[in-house]
Amino acid sequence: MTIEDPIEAPTDAELLDLARAARATAYAPYSRFRVGAAVATAAGRVFTGANVENASSPAGICAERVAAPQAVVAGQRELTTLAVVGDGTGPCTPCGICRQVLYEFAPDLRILASGEDGSVRTYVLGSDLLPDGFGPRRLRA
Ligand code: THU
Repeated sequence: MTIEDPIEAPTDAELLDLARAARATAYAPYSRFRVGAAVATAAGRVFTGANVENASSPAGICAERVAAPQAVVAGQRELTTLAVVGDGTGPCTPCGICRQVLYEFAPDLRILASGEDGSVRTYVLGSDLLPDGFGPRRLRA
C-alpha cells in the first residue's frame, strides 16, 4: 500500500470528525485557540493538520496550511472538501492567508466549518470566501 492508493471517499461527518481529532494535536500555547483541519482529495485520501504556533508569532502556521500541503507533496493536488474545526462556538472559517493558499489548488473547494458546539456551515471557497480571487490562471493568461 502506498500513499497514492485510493480509499473510499470520506463523508462530510467523517471529515469533520477527523478535523476535530486533529484539533487535539494543536500546539497553541499563546492563543490557546486550537484548530484542526482535514482535507479530502479526489483520489479519496485525507490529510490532516492542526495549528502550530511559535514564540516568534509570524512563524506559527494554521491548521489548513499544515493539512493541504501534505496532499500536494503526496501528488494529490485535487482537493475536494476541507473540514476545519476550531475552539469556541460557531464555525471557524479559514483566515485570509489560508484562503489564498487553498485557492491555488482548489478554487471550487467545499469548506465545512465548525466549532465546539457542532454546528456546521458549508462554503465554496471561490464564490463564498474569496470572490474574484487571484490565482494561477491569471498568470497564465
Ligand atoms: N487558526 C487556524 O489554524 N486556522 C484558522 O482557520 C483560523 C486561525 C489559528 C492560527 C493561530 O494559531 C490561532 O488559530 C489563533 O489565531
